[in-house]
Amino acid sequence: MSDKKPYAEDQLKILLTQEQIEEKIAELGKTISQDYAGKELILIGVLRGSAYFLVDLSRKMHIPFAIDFISISHYSEQADSAGVVRITKDLDLSVTGKHVLIVEDIVDTGLSLGYLLRNLKTRNPADLKICTLLNVEARRIVEVPVDYKGFDLPNIFVVGYGLDYNEKYRNLQFIAEFNRP
Ligand code: IMP
Ligand code: MG
Repeated sequence: MSDKKPYAEDQLKILLTQEQIEEKIAELGKTISQDYAGKELILIGVLRGSAYFLVDLSRKMHIPFAIDFISISHYSEQADSAGVVRITKDLDLSVTGKHVLIVEDIVDTGLSLGYLLRNLKTRNPADLKICTLLNVEARRIVEVPVDYKGFDLPNIFVVGYGLDYNEKYRNLQFIAEFNRP
């Protein structure tokens, strides 16, 4: 058998434990349930990073609501194409007249969310808000209104709990700073 470690543990520094994440999500679920009681709510998960958060958050909510997913391509790191975002998988449900809550794993530059907000507004929802597990104010390029957030992070790269490095590490139950090789 290979003695290679399953994860590059020496590259991972745990920032938020499973317990801390669970506790925060329970609080968010309670607050959101109170705020949206009696309203026609759709939670929209932005694939793929927010899938874990959306599922766990939804299980901590005690009001009826719908769930849908949207997928957007991330902008290139090249300056000349910064801000270029497009939808690669659209919603299946109509959001017109509905209270929409976008569920994100992390708001970083804000470029993806800025685009998504503009796009979804044209569909005339009753209301459009943002819930993100992680918020990195230090890397913001586009101002986006974050209505619900789990944790603020400094300018670092993180993986776990849905967040990836080259599509890996999403399944970690904790969130860790990752030193990119
Ligand atoms: P934006 O920069 O706010 O547009 O974020 C775009 C997307 O990049 C996020 O939704 C994440 O999927 C991904 N992302 C941003 N920062 C990180 C990070 O630190 N680790 C992993 N993925 C990230
Ligand atoms: Mg994302």
